[in-house]
Amino acid sequence: MCGIVGGVSKNNNIVPILINGLEKLEYRGYDSAGIAIINHNRIQRIRSVGRVSNIHKKISQKNLKGKTGIGHTRWATHGGVLEKNAHPHISNNEIVVVHNGIIENHAKLCDFLKNKNYIFKSETDTEVIAHLIHYFRKNKPSLLEAVHKTCKKLEGAYAIAVSNKNSNEIIVARNGCPLIIGVSEDQNFIASDISALISVTNNVIFLEDGDIAVIASDSYKIFDDNLNQINRKIYKSSVKENQMELGPYDHYMQKEIYEQPIAIADTIESIIDEGSINPKLIGGLKFDASKYESILILAAGTSYYAGLTAKYWFEHLAKVPVNVEIASEYRYRDAVTPKKQLIITISQSGETLDTLEALKQAKKNGNKNSLTICNVQESAIVRQSDYVFYTRAGVEIGVASTKAFTTQLVCLFVLSLIFAKQRKKITKKNELAYIEELRKLSGHIQTALNLEPQIKAWAKKFSRKSNALFLGRGIHYPIALEGALKLKEISYIHAEAYPAGELKHGPLALVDKDLPVVVIAPNDKLLEKVKSNMQEVKARGGELFVIADADSQFDAEAGIHVIRTNRHVGILSPIVHAIPVQLLAYHVAISKKTDVDKPRNLAKSVTVE
Ligand code: AGP
Repeated sequence: MCGIVGGVSKNNNIVPILINGLEKLEYRGYDSAGIAIINHNRIQRIRSVGRVSNIHKKISQKNLKGKTGIGHTRWATHGGVLEKNAHPHISNNEIVVVHNGIIENHAKLCDFLKNKNYIFKSETDTEVIAHLIHYFRKNKPSLLEAVHKTCKKLEGAYAIAVSNKNSNEIIVARNGCPLIIGVSEDQNFIASDISALISVTNNVIFLEDGDIAVIASDSYKIFDDNLNQINRKIYKSSVKENQMELGPYDHYMQKEIYEQPIAIADTIESIIDEGSINPKLIGGLKFDASKYESILILAAGTSYYAGLTAKYWFEHLAKVPVNVEIASEYRYRDAVTPKKQLIITISQSGETLDTLEALKQAKKNGNKNSLTICNVQESAIVRQSDYVFYTRAGVEIGVASTKAFTTQLVCLFVLSLIFAKQRKKITKKNELAYIEELRKLSGHIQTALNLEPQIKAWAKKFSRKSNALFLGRGIHYPIALEGALKLKEISYIHAEAYPAGELKHGPLALVDKDLPVVVIAPNDKLLEKVKSNMQEVKARGGELFVIADADSQFDAEAGIHVIRTNRHVGILSPIVHAIPVQLLAYHVAISKKTDVDKPRNLAKSVTVE
């Protein structure tokens, strides 16, 4: 949700570094972009609606150069997608600000500032920050003090980067939104995440809420929210620049779909030691599942669907009761907290505000322990959790989550085995059998990827449709949900998912010859039930697209298209069946010529409510 990058260099022109950083951050928001450079006591700003490439063109035309600058990619919250609302925002040609987050009391601050004769040029909540800093500087405190005073007045979540016209420093502050410092020789940087900086440094400092920092070319100083200077550890990031490259693929989503066999294998091997699952490998902490009597899973979007799938595994294998709740709903509910409940959050980014706040609420509600399944090192949710189980998906750039989802599922399955093992609900023999099945998973995923030509043919039929229905039962119902989400997210076709048994309770009324119905139909104990549900659709003229196993035992006929994955892989089957629904959404989006990696109105990390 908006990306920030900035830097101060002793010798180098900062502009290409900012542009490169913004391109890497574009996945965080892509409706407008801008940069501001401090040059000879002047702020030079270039902004544009649309992609970073638009400001790139303007920069070349104006030959913009400088050694201190900040940049921003926007995902609109307050104010439409207009150039005047694009960041950076400037107050009185002196103070320049970029911001990620939402200032909840901006209307009150705006009234205050208007009374002080400040003129607002945008509809954003961010502009109050620029004017407030300018206002506090009038009595001549340092820029750092003015930013500090301003932060004390702000309510809501923010990460900000600020400079002024005669400065070669950037001041940054964070509260609820991510911000890192990139440390290098004779130049230092700031960014929303490491992806923006990997071309210049891999030495990073993760700022914490309440931190304020002053960045110069040869130094950086970090302060707490009382302006006492503090130290923060420098980490070496393992993210490599080539991980961000498209290589032979047309889109990041396609690349990430195809990276799943490797990502899954890496995730599995990270937790297996001498052939057995070793819970000590989860974040290096001693994890004792036997002390929990229940689990509450909190997550959003695709991560929530991973949680819904996991409920079946935990209850089946470990006999532990599990509730799964949408994070933004849990936050505002008077939840009754059972004793000895483990909170599990699931988040690819580790930044999703709804999930982070739900976790904080869960702690307030008396839950003592939390574990997160996350893909991003040192992210906000990781820092708030007692235990971390990292998905080894690698950087995921496409807005539509794919490899993060399947690696989350792998982590959750492994976790349910750990629960089963430590609660003595599984024999050693069965544990080893599951590990063996897990190790074969990448091969099954590869076979599912080989279904691409058939799925492409299906996709052509979908691209002319306005609606679609996804059906699944039991452990495959969450995969139907995920299929519907993927399709609507990137192809803009309205899609709904139902447990197939619910069809007759209402949605059957939608079925006619124009409604494609995707059915997840593996050869599990519910297959016969699913077949009956398919007949209900067929009898009403609906067109069925069935994703079956090699052994599901039914054939294609008029109005029923069938594709088959490998043999049925038991309770790991949802992970395999996730692949065809991802490929379907991808190819429908390609035939509809939508922007696959950056679908309209969305962003990768949702750091606002
Ligand atoms: C998935 O395709 C979506 N883009 C979205 O639903 C996402 O899963 C959700 O916003 C949660 O994100 P997180 O995993 O980073 O917390």
